[in-house]
Amino acid sequence: MDWAADDLRERDLYKLLVNTVLPRPIALVTTVDEKGSANAAPFSFFNVFSHAPPLVVLGIEGRSGTEPLKDTMRNIRETGGFVVNLVDRAMVAAMQVCAIDFPSEVDEIAAAGLDTVASAKVAAPRLAASPVQLECRETVSLSFGSKHRNLVVGEIVHLHIRDGIVNERLHVDIDKLDLVGRLHGADWYLGLGDRFQEPRQTLDGWRDRARASIPEGEVS
Ligand SMILES: Cc1cc2nc3c(=O)[nH]c(=O)nc-3n(C[C@H](O)[C@H](O)[C@H](O)COP(=O)(O)O)c2cc1C
Repeated sequence: MDWAADDLRERDLYKLLVNTVLPRPIALVTTVDEKGSANAAPFSFFNVFSHAPPLVVLGIEGRSGTEPLKDTMRNIRETGGFVVNLVDRAMVAAMQVCAIDFPSEVDEIAAAGLDTVASAKVAAPRLAASPVQLECRETVSLSFGSKHRNLVVGEIVHLHIRDGIVNERLHVDIDKLDLVGRLHGADWYLGLGDRFQEPRQTLDGWRDRARASIPEGEVS
């Protein structure tokens, strides 16, 4: 089957994209408003985009009603920084509490039972339970469409990784990270259990294999 994107209703585009572009990493993003109130919310329209400069991207949808921006986006506009807290298996239930559409005045970090730690470079706090916390400064945000959807690009200015996960040669023990990714539907996730190795190919290796499989005299 195929479709012109313009022919699909918004809801159907959402269904086809979030149920095929899988798995997606999850950022539990902490922010703070100009009065200093902290907020946390998960985002799976998220990824690391580059390492030099070190950039992350977040896709934040709008809201219907009188307050068109999610608290996360409003706070990034107000204070210019945020923390990406990666989500491990132990944090999933707390992450789901942070995704509840609470009124702005509710402290969802407390409701989720999460502890915070002050950041080194941004006003937003970090989540102590997260194995990897990336302090970011907003570089640019682009608005798309009519419903206040924003693509936030942030530069990572400070990294925190829980002790015991990275060795002195900066090798990361991904079993100790135990991160989860978002899958299909409203509530499917996966861990890092089902993984496999596929050796990276080189041009020379590929040519050698091509020569080996083609009769003598036919490879140029
Ligand atoms: C696993 C997961 C991933 C989510 N990803 C996104 C996302 O990429 N973009 C988005 O706008 N909302 C996403 N949401 C919904 C927001 O987390 C939810 O709207 C939240 O209440 C926003 O909170 P805020 O108003 O405090 O920013 C996701 C929810 C879950 C559970």
